[in-house]
Amino acid sequence: MPLVLVTGASRGIGRELCRQLLERGCTVLAGVRDVAQAPPGTEPIELDVADGDSVAAAAEAVRTAHGTLDILVNNAGILSEDDEDLLELPEDLLLETLNTNALGPFRTIQAFAPLLRKGGRIVNVSSGGGQLSSPSDWSPAYCLSKTLLNGLTVQFAQALKPRGIAVNAVCPGWVRTDMGSPSAPRSVAEGAAGLTWLCLDAPPGMTGRFLRDGIEIPW
Ligand SMILES: NC(=O)c1ccc[n+]([C@@H]2O[C@H](COP(=O)([O-])OP(=O)(O)OC[C@H]3O[C@@H](n4cnc5c(N)ncnc54)[C@H](OP(=O)(O)O)[C@@H]3O)[C@@H](O)[C@H]2O)c1
Repeated sequence: MPLVLVTGASRGIGRELCRQLLERGCTVLAGVRDVAQAPPGTEPIELDVADGDSVAAAAEAVRTAHGTLDILVNNAGILSEDDEDLLELPEDLLLETLNTNALGPFRTIQAFAPLLRKGGRIVNVSSGGGQLSSPSDWSPAYCLSKTLLNGLTVQFAQALKPRGIAVNAVCPGWVRTDMGSPSAPRSVAEGAAGLTWLCLDAPPGMTGRFLRDGIEIPW
C-alpha cells in the first residue's frame, strides 16, 4: 500500500486526512512541528515547512528509513488574523505567509521529488481564495500565497511529467478547523475527502489540475 507524507498533520484537515489514509490501508508519515502531536497510527516526521534545514532533514530521515515515497501532500498552511487590507498589508506578514504556504511546498517538493517513484503523486492543498478567475477581497496575503501555490502546481506538473509524477492542487472547501472557524459549513471529514480521492482514487495520468470534490475548477 502507498507510503504517504502529509505536512501539517497535527490538526485540522491534515490530521483527518491521515485518519482517512490509514483507514484505506496506507502507511502514513505525519509531518509535524511537534512530534508529540502526530495522529495515532502514523509515523511522526519532524517537519517545519518554513525552514529549509528542517525540510532537508525530514527528506533525509524518510530516505534513510524508507528509501522511497509514493505520495506527498502539501497541506501545512497559515492564515494570519491581521491579514486584512492589501493597501495596508505589512510586508513581513506577506513574506511569512508566502514562506509557509507557497515556498513551503516549493522546498518540500524539491527535497522529496528524488524519493518519489514513477506513478507517484503530489497533492497541493490550495484554496478557492487563490483563484484568479474569481478574485477574493479577504485575507490578501493568504489568497496571494495560494495563487502562487497554484502556479507552482502547474510548473511542477510540467517539470515532473517526464518522470510520471502527477502534481495537482485541491481546494477542500470552507472547513470547520482552527483556520476555517466554527462557522464553516463543512466538517473536516468532508474537507479531507477530496484530498483522499486525489491521493488514492484520481485517474493516474491526471496532472496540472485544480480540483474541489474531484471536480476540476478554474484557476
Ligand atoms: N479550513 C478551511 O476552510 C480551508 C479552506 C481552504 C483551504 N484550506 C487549506 O487547508 C490546509 C489545512 O488547513 P486547516 O484548516 O486544517 O488549518 P489548521 O487547522 O489551522 O491547521 C494548520 C496545520 O498546518 C500546520 N502548519 C502551519 N505552519 C506550519 C509550518 N511552518 N510547518 C509545518 N506545519 C505547519 C499546523 O501545525 P501546528 O499544529 O504545528 O501549528 C497545522 O497542522 C491549509 O493549507 C489551508 O490553507 C483550508
